[in-house]
Amino acid sequence: MLNGIIHAHSGFRWIVLLLLVAATFKALLKWRSNAPFTEADGKLNFFTMLSAHLQLLLGLTLYFISDKVAFSGDTMKVALTRFFTAEHSLIMVLAIALITIGYTKTKKATEENLKFKTTFQYYFAALVLVLVGIPWPFRGFGSAWF
Ligand code: HEM
Repeated sequence: MLNGIIHAHSGFRWIVLLLLVAATFKALLKWRSNAPFTEADGKLNFFTMLSAHLQLLLGLTLYFISDKVAFSGDTMKVALTRFFTAEHSLIMVLAIALITIGYTKTKKATEENLKFKTTFQYYFAALVLVLVGIPWPFRGFGSAWF
């Protein structure tokens, strides 16, 4: 079961990334060109948030069953357990919180241009955090590309 969830969580990163990149740069382009905020823009923002929340659920499940999450005196001394117990999880929770706040603020904003500006600011900050927080294969944590 652990392996299945790791694979789902690992592969699902690409869906989250794809939607987050699309929503962020669409918002930037439409903000700079004073375009109207359409239903499709709202849907893209929503599905981006939904994918992030699904990834959060998978991540939280892993947090309780992964052997890379540990609570002992050595947790913070060993790079692998420090990364998954503290760094990865905290960075990602923060990123997902930013996406959620950005989505809510965008929905509440009344001015169309402000909607795009808000989406861009929050989703871009989240995108940077997600890119920094992913255990890419070259970071040496033994994680895969998919
Ligand atoms: C957008 C959010 C997230 C992304 C893109 C993401 C991505 C990833 C990736 C790519 C891996 C490596 C999987 C592999 O070994 O192939 C991973 C592992 C892990 N993630 Fe996340 N993650 C996210 C959020 C979270 C959150 C919020 C938590 C916990 C609260 C979490 C907990 C974990 C744990 C514990 C592992 C290690 C699993 C293991 O190998 O035993 N993740 N994550």
